[in-house]
Amino acid sequence: MSEKIKGGPNEGPSFLQGGFIVKKIAVLTSGGDSPGMNAAVRSVVRTGLHYGLEVAGILKGYEGLIDGEIITMDSRSVAGIIHRGGTILHTSRSERFLTPEGRSMAMDQLASAGVDAIVIIGGDGSFRGAEKLHESGLPVIGIPGTIDNDIAGTDETIGYDTALNTSLDAVARLRDTASSHDRLFIVELMGRDSGFIALEVGLACGAEAVVIPETGLDLADLADDIHRARKMDKDHFFIILAEGVMSAQELKEKLRDTAGYDARITVPGYVIRGGSPTCYDTVLATRMGRKAVETLLEGRKGLMIGCVNHEMVTVPLSDSWERKKTINPELIETLDMMNS
Ligand code: F6P
Repeated sequence: MSEKIKGGPNEGPSFLQGGFIVKKIAVLTSGGDSPGMNAAVRSVVRTGLHYGLEVAGILKGYEGLIDGEIITMDSRSVAGIIHRGGTILHTSRSERFLTPEGRSMAMDQLASAGVDAIVIIGGDGSFRGAEKLHESGLPVIGIPGTIDNDIAGTDETIGYDTALNTSLDAVARLRDTASSHDRLFIVELMGRDSGFIALEVGLACGAEAVVIPETGLDLADLADDIHRARKMDKDHFFIILAEGVMSAQELKEKLRDTAGYDARITVPGYVIRGGSPTCYDTVLATRMGRKAVETLLEGRKGLMIGCVNHEMVTVPLSDSWERKKTINPELIETLDMMNS
């Protein structure tokens, strides 16, 4: 059991007693960037400083860690970033970190920089890497940052809300032109293998159909729905497609070849990964950053911070890839009801 946290604002270094001592922490961002990552970095840095810790920033994710790109962070180094998209620390998808040699170089770099514990902000791929560091004896805490929201153990990931709102804004613009021309549109949205973004955006924009990996594509059903909408004199038809099912171009061709429909396609792509975080994402990131540092200071490690029913929680890092987060069936039913 850990003892009380020593130190506090402007006091000396804090030591913790859960079997390890923390005097210096490091923070890195990894995988696809997401809006709110900067707010999380700022929160980790300022919470660490608040408790009297030294804080280092690792540039370019695990790639930079292997190469020893480690910088000192102070309060000013995270000034003016809370509202900025992307990540000031930069990020990467590191092939080298997947190898034992790469990880051993990373551990050496951390040891020579005097880092006692690390906070990793990223998705499930990044957390698999984090688990390896944890197994090598380094205290690790993960913060879920990805627009995809595909991480079990947290209701939302940092960046998801912003990606939803950016996507919604794009679709709202498309509706204007689609209605004017009585057109069928397919909008392909990111989300890797999951349909969280597509489903919520579909509900919010009043889409006529949503095609996501969790439910798959029934081409005949979709063609029927389009036919029914035409008969009801609808002046547009929106299909929100998750990239994990197929590309918008492929779906367009299928609809043309099997049912003779001519669809316009739009792929916002990386646009929905950028931009300033929403209020929700900024607050979430700030809370998670604080919770990550305080969890380490309680002597707890190998955990991911989550937000469940608006409360900060901790779950084993391995939950992020061993458990599958499922789509809420109520959302699918509601969408169907709205279009019945
Ligand atoms: O995981 C976030 C994400 O943006 C996914 O939605 C998308 O499939 C993937 O990253 C794209 O990855 P990359 O940036 O490596 O092209």
